[in-house]
Amino acid sequence: MPTAKLILNNQEYEFPIIEGSENEIAIDFTKLRAQTGAVAYDPGYGNTGSCLSAITYIDGEQGILRYRGYPIEQLAGKSTFVEVCYLLIYGELPTPQQLADFQYKLTYHTLIHEDMKKFFEGYPPTAHPMAIMSAVAMSLSTYYSNFDTPESIDLNIVRLLAKFKTIAAFTYKRSIGQPFIYPRNDLSYAADFLHMLFAVPAEPYQVSDVLTRALDLLLILHADHEQNCSTSTVRMVGSSKANLFASISAGISALWGPLHGGANQEVIEMLQQIQDSGGDYHGFMDKVKDKSSGIRLMGFGHRVYKNFDPRARILKQAAHDVLDELGIHDPLLDIATNLEQIALNDPYFVERKLYPNVDFYSGIIYRAMGLPTNMFTVLFALGRLPGWIAQWKEMHDDPATRINRPRQIYTGATERDYVVLEKRQD
Ligand code: CMC
Repeated sequence: MPTAKLILNNQEYEFPIIEGSENEIAIDFTKLRAQTGAVAYDPGYGNTGSCLSAITYIDGEQGILRYRGYPIEQLAGKSTFVEVCYLLIYGELPTPQQLADFQYKLTYHTLIHEDMKKFFEGYPPTAHPMAIMSAVAMSLSTYYSNFDTPESIDLNIVRLLAKFKTIAAFTYKRSIGQPFIYPRNDLSYAADFLHMLFAVPAEPYQVSDVLTRALDLLLILHADHEQNCSTSTVRMVGSSKANLFASISAGISALWGPLHGGANQEVIEMLQQIQDSGGDYHGFMDKVKDKSSGIRLMGFGHRVYKNFDPRARILKQAAHDVLDELGIHDPLLDIATNLEQIALNDPYFVERKLYPNVDFYSGIIYRAMGLPTNMFTVLFALGRLPGWIAQWKEMHDDPATRINRPRQIYTGATERDYVVLEKRQD
């Protein structure tokens, strides 16, 4: 078996090498501290493989993303979000019967307990929808508290997938003061969600085929992305054997941050600012490149992709197609396209290998749907849900899982004696 050698204080140690199915190499440091007394220091975990996983493969240098081996371009072009949910969670594309059964379950678990509707009344109308999503996802654990058997876990997975879009739509309706619209069993997953978002009781609402297809595509593209911040959070919380709902609720909180899923909201706000400034791209770019400004080009850069983000490529094309099909001209799409060109030709971005990520163009499509910016990250969460569930289940089912508990390198004061208050100087 190949090994890696480490020399520490003139002593040599050997560690096993692990090779992934795509020939990725890792040094197995499981016994590092036990053998050497040292720990690995890797803030931000950029060099740390936190688990073995068979769900999603990314090659950031080549711009490759695959779910269970299937290229994202093929899934985006040929699959549906419900099928992708099944693929991620159960490992294989479903047979026609398996898909029909799964679809049936996702359709017949969409209602939330009537009492849960009262939760939404407790928040101010200005509440950020991500705060409500996290709280209500956690609250599901109070209604469905059987977490232990494989059957109950499977049922809770279905409940969560089915009810999440109802909760997301109710959150939106509450924020605009409209009555909740109940799920409809005759509609597809994406169409039902759009109906719950945009229908009103006063008149029939025809769900647009263009928007249904666009939403399904967006959900597929967001469905998993291996060990990103929110997914690692789901695994971290789940490693303590916290239940599925609690773990997903924590993932929603992590996703909310502007460096992660919250970036899609910030991209549109940034594009709007540039529009308001009369198209002052260069003034904005100067601020982005000045580190002291604290301003970043939102929707650009990625920890893993150092060539291009394949999701951004698909979404750029989709944004143009959807707007064309709907006959909408959105000046923010022109601004985004110009900004991308300026950034891709600027040495600051070229040297740092910064390219548009999934959040750069997604907001343009959410706007075309008629969603306000503070709902954008909720759409990301809806898409990412099957990925979080698949990763939680993989961790939960793995007998080798241990509670996640990193070490630290302590840099504080060494031991000192307590000083009574009267003797402390102001
Ligand atoms: N604008 C300006 N400079 C940037 C940007 C950006 N968007 N992203 C990275 N940089 C610079 C950064 O200042 C640093 O420069 P230097 O080497 O001179 O110190 C260098 O590029 C490397 O950046 P980093 O912060 O060390 O990279 P990271 O891997 O820790 O962060 C990131 C990745 C996505 C948080 C970051 O690129 C970023 O803040 N992007 C904007 C927010 C964003 O779009 N987030 C969505 C990510 S994709 C969807 C998701 O999965 O959530």
